[in-house]
Amino acid sequence: MWWCDAVIYQVYPRSFADSDGDGYGDLPGITARLDHLVELGVDALWLSPFYPSPQADAGYDVADYRDVDPLFGTLADADELIAAAKARGLRVILDLVPNHTSDAHPWFTAALGAGPGSAERDRYIFRDGRGSHGELPPNNWQSVFGGPAWTQVPDGQWYLHLFDAGQPDLNWDNPSVRAEFEDILRFWLDRGADGFRVDVAHGLVKQAQLPDWHHPPTPLTGTDLTSVRPPMWDQDGVHEIYRSWRRVLSEYGPDRILVAEAWVQPAERLAQYVRPDEMHQAFNFEYLQAAWDAPSQRNVITRSLAATDAVGAPTTWVLSNHDVVRHASRLGMDMELVLHKGIGPRDPQPDEELGLRRARAATLLMLALPGSAYLYQGEELGLPEHTTLPDEARQDPGWRRSNYTAPGRDGCRVPIPWQADAPSYGFGPSDRSWLPQPPTWARYALDRQRGVPGSTYEMYRTALRLRRELELGSGTLSWVETDVPDQVLAFRNGDTTVVTNFGPEPVSLSELLSSEVKVLHASADLDDGGKVPTDVTVWVATLTR
Ligand code: NOJ
Repeated sequence: MWWCDAVIYQVYPRSFADSDGDGYGDLPGITARLDHLVELGVDALWLSPFYPSPQADAGYDVADYRDVDPLFGTLADADELIAAAKARGLRVILDLVPNHTSDAHPWFTAALGAGPGSAERDRYIFRDGRGSHGELPPNNWQSVFGGPAWTQVPDGQWYLHLFDAGQPDLNWDNPSVRAEFEDILRFWLDRGADGFRVDVAHGLVKQAQLPDWHHPPTPLTGTDLTSVRPPMWDQDGVHEIYRSWRRVLSEYGPDRILVAEAWVQPAERLAQYVRPDEMHQAFNFEYLQAAWDAPSQRNVITRSLAATDAVGAPTTWVLSNHDVVRHASRLGMDMELVLHKGIGPRDPQPDEELGLRRARAATLLMLALPGSAYLYQGEELGLPEHTTLPDEARQDPGWRRSNYTAPGRDGCRVPIPWQADAPSYGFGPSDRSWLPQPPTWARYALDRQRGVPGSTYEMYRTALRLRRELELGSGTLSWVETDVPDQVLAFRNGDTTVVTNFGPEPVSLSELLSSEVKVLHASADLDDGGKVPTDVTVWVATLTR
């Protein structure tokens, strides 16, 4: 199956390429840049939402699941994009947002109009409040973005929104909700979509009675909630929904896929989403959150492989997306502190050089692992987080809802630099860009890296070509034991050996592997003695002496 070892590239439409100069990326912009993805060497793209939306959460608040927001183009543009991608051999994964709609969705407007107890209200989670006059929220749940997870409507009832108030949660106990989403799946499958990334896949079903929850409010800040399951996340009832979706996809043959965005730990629990009759893949966020040291990396890789092996699914790997600080910045500072909170101008700043060096090493490590890998637009340029965005430019609802304490996710969503010397770095034909681009980004522009040996872009291209030639994605990993397990990670995948040096001293490959080696690819130059320096990954072929 194509997806078992695929490299899937995430396009964040508003920040990829702007065709009309309004400062927002759009679908025709993506179509015009598809050859970049072909040249890079990925198998598929996943498009974050482009549907009609008030954009309260950058399009993750959908008002119409079967159309395109004028900001991004038209339905015909979506058809054209899908056709153009297919013509180039690229598959297209769309983003499905089933946990909540926008408050501008006709269902929600109808629910407000129809009043308490109505069938319209039953599509959402409306409740009476607590307190003598219902003036208190129905329970103590907090929104992932901060503040209460409930908003009161004029007739006194409250509705649940695990995210922004503009994103009311749907009631998945209601059969009309289930029927509607199966129909939405078919709408896009009929138009040629190769699958769906399923937003908040762990949130659709809530524990009955909606009990109070006294532990940390959100799984998006990293869970150590392995023993007590929060009543709003990872309820067993979600799996029946994915079984029914799998049946729908199967009607279209074996090649269409479902990918779970589920912030669920431990890995065994996450693996339940990819049992044979459910989804095909789940993002491996435990991997994304693992510390940059040899034992942590080995541990998370081993656990991830074991958990998915147990259910017969391939593993996935991911280092960056539109919700977390880019790995080129995260790895240049204390990553646990900033992963979800974001970085603002008043925060300690990452070490850009160190971050990029480690990011390159992390990427080569990831792309040598068996399974499927996800890339986030711009990481192939080594793009860092924009960490000094002015407060007034920020648009992430988390910034406002955290009372301006968490800078949020805008820093990883800044439009891509294509050309060093063009307005908006070639993002569009004008100098407009919905988030300001840092003045230092010319050096990351694609045209400064294309064809330049050793550039991050060429490093990615070579890695993706070799990964395919060496069949790393479909291979099997076996660890190579060394005398320095705390400092060096080494494994074999087929005929290739991969070594990452996390330790302070350079490492001799021939001593480490007791063999002569031929270096196939490296995240940085080896030192004069041919040793692997700190924070460098190499791919080698071992030659018998
Ligand atoms: C996960 C998405 O990736 C994120 O961007 C969004 O804010 C939440 N789900 C809510 O839809």
